[in-house]
Amino acid sequence: MKPIQVGLLGIGTVGSGVFNVLGRNQDEICRRAGCDIRIAAVADLDTARARSIVGESVRVLGDARELIADPEIDVVVELIGGCGIARLLVLEAIAAGKHVVTANKALLAVHGTEIFQAAADKGVIVAFEAAVAGGIPIIKALREGLTANRIQWIAGIINGTTNFILSEMRDKGLDFGVVLKEAQALGYAEADPTFDIEGVDAAHKATIMSALAFGIPVQFDKAYVEGITQLAAADIKYAEQLGYRIKLLGITRRRPEGIELRVHPSLVPAKRLIANVEGAMNAVVVQGDAVGATLYYGKGAGSEPTASAVIADLVDIARLHGADAAHRVPPLAFQSHTLAAAGG
Ligand code: HSE
Repeated sequence: MKPIQVGLLGIGTVGSGVFNVLGRNQDEICRRAGCDIRIAAVADLDTARARSIVGESVRVLGDARELIADPEIDVVVELIGGCGIARLLVLEAIAAGKHVVTANKALLAVHGTEIFQAAADKGVIVAFEAAVAGGIPIIKALREGLTANRIQWIAGIINGTTNFILSEMRDKGLDFGVVLKEAQALGYAEADPTFDIEGVDAAHKATIMSALAFGIPVQFDKAYVEGITQLAAADIKYAEQLGYRIKLLGITRRRPEGIELRVHPSLVPAKRLIANVEGAMNAVVVQGDAVGATLYYGKGAGSEPTASAVIADLVDIARLHGADAAHRVPPLAFQSHTLAAAGG
């Protein structure tokens, strides 16, 4: 089977995670996909850094457009972020007939209508599992596992940085600024952390989930957005004394008057599961009419958790467009190992 050739636009925190995980688990990933998935080229402004990550096995380019124009590349993975150059490059990749995988929630929340229309016109896929809640497969859950349901509401901790800040402030009594710096050093925070602490990043993700769950166009501009910058250590302490935890929640809900979309600090009873989601972890509760409440929990940020989601999208594309029919649905078994004896 012909391999899927992948081009990475940007090889920072997430890009290097994609390279490492794909290298480490190549055999299993490709057997599940039904064909080889190869990183053929990487484009990054910092070509020296890119070279130090990928070694000599992968072509390193300083020009993203050269990568997009390469007829060998089947899928472009956009990991640049933001709505400026990333938007132009994604549209260019689509116009060139490439499938696109992106972790860029801002781009989809603001320009999703234009991008998905362009992709539909061209007959290519834009996949974005990594754009919401990092390694948690929440897009798949909404699209596939819960597809029979009329979704009633979704509520989630979908920004790791702010959850990390709130947890550290509460547990260690640390100052907001100190914890923010720590979150940046750990690679959770956005390049501009204002998006994290002002609730904008969570609103981008909530916008995407809202569109998927309710079948509406992305409408980030209509979201109510409030971050955690007005919270004082005393608020967190008083909430605790009253039996609550303060969490920055992204909420979208079906109401008789329309769909509600909001992000703000919320008082959550301390005994609720979601109140006990600590650090940079994310958790999303989805309420469907048939299934009831379902809960998804995991790492919402960081190099390899986000890479896990990017690679899941690559495997989907490989199955749909590269692999034979037998692989369209993931195979249950592809190895002949027998089970180890219990207790052995
Ligand atoms: N800055 C984001 C967060 C990264 O903290 O959750 C993952 O989208």
